[in-house]
Amino acid sequence: KKNIAVMTSGGDSPGMNAVVRAVVRTAIHLDCNAYCVYEGYEGLVRGGTYIKQMGWEDVRGYLSEGGTLIGTARCMAFFEREGRLQAAKNMVLNGIDALIICGGDGSLTGADRFRAEWPSLLEELVQKGDLKKEQIEPFKHLNIVGLVGSIDNDLSGTDATIGAYSALSRICEMVDYIEATASSHSRAFVIEVMGRHCGWLALMAAVATGADFLFIPEKPREDNWKEEMCQVIKGHRSMGKRKTIVIIAEGALDKHGNKISPSMVKDLLADKNGLGLDTRITTLGHVQRGGSAVAYDRMLGTLQGVEAVKAVLEATPETETCFIAITENKIARKPLMAAVAETKEVAKLIDAQRFNEAMALRDTEFSD
Ligand code: F6P
Repeated sequence: KKNIAVMTSGGDSPGMNAVVRAVVRTAIHLDCNAYCVYEGYEGLVRGGTYIKQMGWEDVRGYLSEGGTLIGTARCMAFFEREGRLQAAKNMVLNGIDALIICGGDGSLTGADRFRAEWPSLLEELVQKGDLKKEQIEPFKHLNIVGLVGSIDNDLSGTDATIGAYSALSRICEMVDYIEATASSHSRAFVIEVMGRHCGWLALMAAVATGADFLFIPEKPREDNWKEEMCQVIKGHRSMGKRKTIVIIAEGALDKHGNKISPSMVKDLLADKNGLGLDTRITTLGHVQRGGSAVAYDRMLGTLQGVEAVKAVLEATPETETCFIAITENKIARKPLMAAVAETKEVAKLIDAQRFNEAMALRDTEFSD
C-alpha cells in the first residue's frame, strides 16, 4: 500500500481543511494509507507524534471549519539542510514517499527543493548511519504535489488560490459595515487590506464595494497621485455622496517604489486646506484570514485535493513537480516552478483595461 501524507504550510487560509479532508478520504478510497503531518514543515522535522495516520472519520466536520485543523508554521529549521535531513529520515521511518503540500509559493518552492535533494539526503543519512541501505531502498523517489493555499491569490497560472474568495467576501462584508457608520457621520475611511505584494484582494474588493479610490502595488501611482485622488473624491462629494471609502493594499507603492501608507492617505483627506474630511483608518488585519471558508473555497479545496492524490499516484521520477490549478473553471496539473518564476516576472490578473472600466463606474451619476 502507498502511504500518502498531507500537510498545510505558511499562512493558513480558509479551505485548507477541505483539502485535508479530500486528500485523506481520496487516499483511503484508492486503497492507500493517509497521513497528516501536523504543524507544517515543523512537524516533518520533528516527526514522532507530529505524523499521524488518519482514518475516514478523523476528518469529519472539516469542511465548515476555518483555518487549518492540522496546524501550520513558518519553519526556519527546514531552510537548513540539517532540518531537511531530519525531515527525510522521519518520512522514511513512517514509510511515506508521497507528500501533498497546501501552502503559498514559498512553501511550495521549499517542497520542490526537498524533492530535488531527496536522493542525496537519503545517501547522507545512510553514510551517517541514521538509516540502513535496505531501509532507503523502497524510497528512491519522492513524489510531491502542491496545492496553492493563500488568501493573497498571488500565484501565476491559476485563476484562484484556495482562500482568496473567502477573504474577499470577508473584506466586502467589513466594508459594508464601515459604510453605514461612514455615511452616518459623512466621514472618510482608509481601509487597509492584506495581500502582501499582491493587489488582487484590494482590487476585487474595490470593484465589489464601489470604493472611491484604490492603491495597489501592480498600479504604482504617478507623482500626481495626491491631486488625482483629491479631485476624484471631491467630484464624488459634489454629487452628494456622504461617505468616502479608499481601499489600500498593504503593498501599495508609488512609481519610485516608495510605500504609500494609510496614514499618508488619511492626512491628505483630512487636510484642512484641501478636502478637510473627518477621516479614520481601519486596518482589517487577520479577520480577513480567519472564519469559515465560502462555498467556492470548500469546492476548490475538495476538487483540487482529489486531483492531488491522483497526481502523486501517477507521478514518475521524470515528471516535474506539479501543482494543481484551476483555469477557466477546470482543475489542471501544471509545472510548479514555471508558475513561481512567472509570478515573479508579471503581476497577476491585473487587466488594465478592465480595471479602469470597473473603477470608472463609481464616477457616474448612478454611483451610490
Ligand atoms: O500571505 C498571507 C498573509 O495573510 C498576507 O496577506 C499578509 O501579508 C501576511 O500573510 C501576514 O502574515 P502573518 O500572519 O505572519 O502576520
